Amino acid sequence: MIIETQEDVTAAVLQEMHRTPDPRTREILAALVRHLHAFAREVRLTEREFQEAVALVNAIGQRTSPSHNEAMLLAGALGLSNLVCLMNNGGNGARPTQANNLGPFWRKDSPRCEDGASIVRSPTPGPELRFTGWVKDPAGRPIAGAEVDVWHSSPVGLYENQDPSQADMNLRGKFTTGPDGGFSFRSVKPAGYPVPVDGPTGVLLRAQRRHNFRPAHIHFLVHKPGFKTIASQVYDPGDPHLETDSQFGVTRALIGNFVKAGERYSLEFSFVLEPGESRLPNPPISGKASPGR
Ligand SMILES: [Fe+2]
Repeated sequence: MIIETQEDVTAAVLQEMHRTPDPRTREILAALVRHLHAFAREVRLTEREFQEAVALVNAIGQRTSPSHNEAMLLAGALGLSNLVCLMNNGGNGARPTQANNLGPFWRKDSPRCEDGASIVRSPTPGPELRFTGWVKDPAGRPIAGAEVDVWHSSPVGLYENQDPSQADMNLRGKFTTGPDGGFSFRSVKPAGYPVPVDGPTGVLLRAQRRHNFRPAHIHFLVHKPGFKTIASQVYDPGDPHLETDSQFGVTRALIGNFVKAGERYSLEFSFVLEPGESRLPNPPISGKASPGR
């Protein structure tokens, strides 16, 4: 159609949607165009702001590398990651869920570990942590043979993929639950950490005068055929940023009980899997930062 007014643009774009053969793709694209155009009208987006926005979107891709996923980081900083998680787990928010954001730092193919093994693979000073977990079905029955990926930051707040001084796959491991649904590992207690702010996520946080910290946490990815795969995170209740997570990940159900005995901490936690699709997510990163970056 020939466009005569600004309202015509939206109608022209929506009119082209009928060619889209896949109904779900058509639904998503039509809603995206309606909301995007309504957004531009609501804020009366100027030409200069539009150009700045395009540059920021381009920078998301330019900042992304095998060891960094800027789009995932930005989705978290906008609350979209946890919204999508809570809409798709725990009965759309009706029940507490152990599901949580995957985050930008999961790597597949972490080393397989025996029950109780340490995931410290290069010298990593910090208080020792002993973790014991259980994987259960909604009726509380143990799920044996579930694969549990574990990963967390070092006590100085860097994941091994960000830190050339750590061994490859340091503080990462893959465990299998035993007949009682249990698994355990030894590590060091992670610290809270600042998320990288040298890309568009940093532009966003600075514009809003927000800090860039995440409260200390341990990541999990729990996978067993016949059950819906969940990513999870267990948070340290003593962290000063628990209520102001820059990635909006903390939910009541995921605050752990870190017990201190002498210099050592222990933590026990149960994950409930619901019946569903056991699909592993696409890894947000594939490698490690090289020295010098
Ligand atoms: Fe994390």
